[in-house]
This record gives sequence, structure tokens and C-alpha cells, in this order.
Amino acid sequence: MHLNSSELQILLEIATEAAFAAGAVLQGYLGLEEIAEKERAGDLVTAADLASEAVILDILARHFPTHAILAEESGKLGNTESEYLWVIDPLDGTTNYAHQYPFFAVSIGLMIADVPQVGVIFDPFHNELFRAAKGLGATCNRRSIQVSQTAELSKSLLVTGFAYDRRETTDNNYAEFCHLTHLTQGVRRSGSAALDIAHVSCGRLDGYWERGIAPWDIAAGIVLLQEAGGKVTAYDGSPIKIESGRILATNSHIHELLSRELSIASLG
Ligand code: IPD
Ligand code: CA
Ligand code: CA
Repeated sequence: MHLNSSELQILLEIATEAAFAAGAVLQGYLGLEEIAEKERAGDLVTAADLASEAVILDILARHFPTHAILAEESGKLGNTESEYLWVIDPLDGTTNYAHQYPFFAVSIGLMIADVPQVGVIFDPFHNELFRAAKGLGATCNRRSIQVSQTAELSKSLLVTGFAYDRRETTDNNYAEFCHLTHLTQGVRRSGSAALDIAHVSCGRLDGYWERGIAPWDIAAGIVLLQEAGGKVTAYDGSPIKIESGRILATNSHIHELLSRELSIASLG
């Protein structure tokens, strides 16, 4: 389905309103937290996750009562027949947040007919708003952003993450992390997948990969990075499936190199 730019702009503005409201909730709860663990050790949920999600759902339901929603804490909601699916992480970086480590974000993506077309990632602590819509470009605080031009791994700064099931599987990304740490200027582990992709989108980082990732971690980031000139695929370079749990997201110039090294590391 193809929307014109004013239709996309309206969706972007409402997503921004929701992200700002959610960001204010997160800033308000920071440091006051009751922290509960989810089913898996280390997978935390705070009152802030729930309160942030509630304000986003309220704003989206008010403006778009016929759309579908997939939200991390509430699951599937709304009209499941709709071609419009909002994919929401109300607090990406919960572990950081619970420790008052200031690296977390709200992530709101909109998929239309299964394609990510609108994305808003808001970092309320640093007051950085990343936004994109298909064909309209990517911005940070309303200024156009682009990926880096780095074309060699030896000159690259990368980022990755380790999923909550890392203690339960040998496919835990440790081998890949060590391998790429040797080949690059470094591999960061920030604790917020949405901000990782946002920082590749604005050229602070050159590439990101992760396994065990959920649709709400990456829906907004996919359109942001594509609009900033980057590339997003599965590890092997094939088209990304948002539910597959694996993502390779780069400035495009190091994409094939990083894909190859990930496969070498996983064989090794
Ligand atoms: C997590 C963060 C983290 C990533 C995990 C995610 P949450 O999301 O994005 O960077 O490594 O895989 O689950 O739980 O903080 O929303
Ligand atoms: Ca997340
Ligand atoms: Ca979350």
C-alpha cells in the first residue's frame, strides 16, 4: 500500500506525540522504580514500562481506532484485520533504566501491509528525537541524518546485544562478539536495540547486529536506517523478517563484510 507524503506526515506527527508523552512518563519515573522480573532471569519490567505503554496506547487508540497494535507489555490489540500495525516498545533499555544508566528510549514503528513505513525513536534523557517515514528521509531533532561512509571493518565502530536467553543457549552471540572485537575499532553493548539502530542511522556507529530480538525492538529502526541510507537484512543478507529474531543493520558499505564475518564466527 502506498501512502502520499501528507498521509505519512500525519502518522509521523501522532507517533511523535505518543513518543513525547511516553518519554515524559519515563523521565518522571526514573529513579523511583519498583522493579519486577519477568519470567526469565534478568528480564525486568518496571512500573515505567507499563505506564509508558498505557499513554502510547491511549493516544494511538484515540487517533486510529481501526488500526492493529503489537505492544511489548500488552501483546496484540485492536483490529487484527487492519493493514496498519503499530509496533511498540514503551521502554527499550529497561535494564539500563532500572540502574539509572541513561541509555533508553521509546520506540514506535508503524508497519503498513507488513512493511515498516513510519518510525519514531525518542531518547528522553538526552532529548533526541529520531524520526523517519518511507520516502520522506530520516531526521534527528528535525535535522536530516545520514549513515557513515566507513567502508572497512578495521575502521568501524560496531554495536551488538545479548538476548535474555543468553544463559540458556550456546547461540548467545559471544563468539561473534569476540571475533568482531578483534577485527574492528570496537564493539559496544549499549542495552537499547532501538538506540543502537538510531546511532547507526546518524553515523555515530557503523553497524549493528543482534539475535533474540523482538519486532518492537526494531520496527521503527528499520525505516529510520533505510531512510538514512543504511541497509537492514538478515545475517546472510537476505530480506529481513521482523519476527525472525535476527538483524544485521549497517551503513550499507560494510554490510557484506560484516555478514561474512558473522558467518565465519558462528562456524568457528
Ligand atoms: C532489550 C534491549 C537490549 C537488547 C535486548 C532487548 P528491553 O529490550 O533492546 O539492547 O539486547 O535483546 O530485549 O527489554 O530493554 O525492552
Ligand atoms: Ca526492547
Ligand atoms: Ca521494552
